[in-house]
Amino acid sequence: MSSLVLALPDDITDVTEFLRHVDLTLSGLDSPTVQIWIERDAAGEIVASTGFELSDDREHVLIRSVAVHHSAQRAGEGTTLALFALARAMEYGAQQAWLFSRRSGLFWQKLGFEPASRDELAHALASTHQVRLFVESGQLDREVAWTRSLRPR
Ligand SMILES: CC(C)(COP(=O)(O)OP(=O)(O)OC[C@H]1O[C@@H](n2cnc3c(N)ncnc32)[C@H](O)[C@@H]1OP(=O)(O)O)[C@@H](O)C(=O)NCCC(=O)NCCS
Repeated sequence: MSSLVLALPDDITDVTEFLRHVDLTLSGLDSPTVQIWIERDAAGEIVASTGFELSDDREHVLIRSVAVHHSAQRAGEGTTLALFALARAMEYGAQQAWLFSRRSGLFWQKLGFEPASRDELAHALASTHQVRLFVESGQLDREVAWTRSLRPR
């Protein structure tokens, strides 16, 4: 995953299409508070993405948009993408990572995440686009939350 680059405003249409294809949340992708990195193949198609949104105090981070094109899954790329986002978030000083995942819990557990309270997540990251969308739409009640400390062990 050597060719991850920060997605710029001109990339957002392609990012949206990619994330729609892998069935991930699309809200707030064009917001300056959401950081997404992408990898494109030789033809210019996005094949991987990773990103996050920080809480206002930067103590908490919501990992989102971690996705690998279907054709490249189960080869370790997802792990690289997740660790990349966690490392960038730690550089911002984030101490606790959170995310929503209904389908990929085992993947996240292998990265040290544990089941968490949806409400605690929503409280810690109340200002983020994904939480606001899930609260407003009622989707929060159907989500599965995960968390992991980013403090040095
Ligand atoms: C989740 C996702 C990013 C994993 O990417 P990947 O490249 O397949 O993951 P890896 O190859 O690094 O897998 C790491 C481990 O997790 C396991 N794993 C991967 N996806 C899994 C899943 N959906 N459910 C259970 N285990 C999974 C792998 O088997 C592997 O286990 P191992 O180390 O024992 O061999 C990818 O399936 C994806 O893009 N899914 C669609 C988008 C999505 O749901 N993203 C997560 C929400 S942000």
